[in-house]
Amino acid sequence: MNSFFTSKPKPELPVWLQQDMRSNHAGETGAVFIYRGVLAVSRDVQVRAFAQTHLETEEKHLALISRELSVSQRSVFLPLWKLAGYLTGAIPSLFGSNAVYATVDAVETFVDQHYLEQIERLQQEDIFPELRGLLERCREEEIIHRDEARNADRSDRNALLLAWCWLISAGSRAAVNLARWR
Ligand SMILES: [Fe+2]
Ligand SMILES: [Fe+2]
Repeated sequence: MNSFFTSKPKPELPVWLQQDMRSNHAGETGAVFIYRGVLAVSRDVQVRAFAQTHLETEEKHLALISRELSVSQRSVFLPLWKLAGYLTGAIPSLFGSNAVYATVDAVETFVDQHYLEQIERLQQEDIFPELRGLLERCREEEIIHRDEARNADRSDRNALLLAWCWLISAGSRAAVNLARWR
């Protein structure tokens, strides 16, 4: 076959990077479901517009990350990440717009750091520049999401909301560890 029609096989990623990419795929899957959860529950016009535009970005991220991982390299816990994401969006939506914005702020603050750690390691090891570029573009959009949520949030964080946001950060860390493993 003409070489024009055959795509070059992708070089094998080192194990640590496969693990990180599996956690990225799990995270972007969860992100899509966060906004589906918001849209299933919230009737707030502003929140729905916010969730709709973020959902489109997360679907794009998921498609981009999916291209870098074979199906067998993906997390075996994907149903759990979908459920966890859905609840992460649906539960605060029951409590109003500020709870949604605070939740997205907490999630994206975590994701920003998660991507940054990988970008820095790729930079240090000077490998896979295209993949690093992909992670940098995703990270930039996560930061935009974080700032949009932060600017829209008009709440004084009460104890319950602070505890919820802490749970979101701790849960995200645990989810990354589990998804890196399987
Ligand atoms: Fe994303
Ligand atoms: Fe995001």
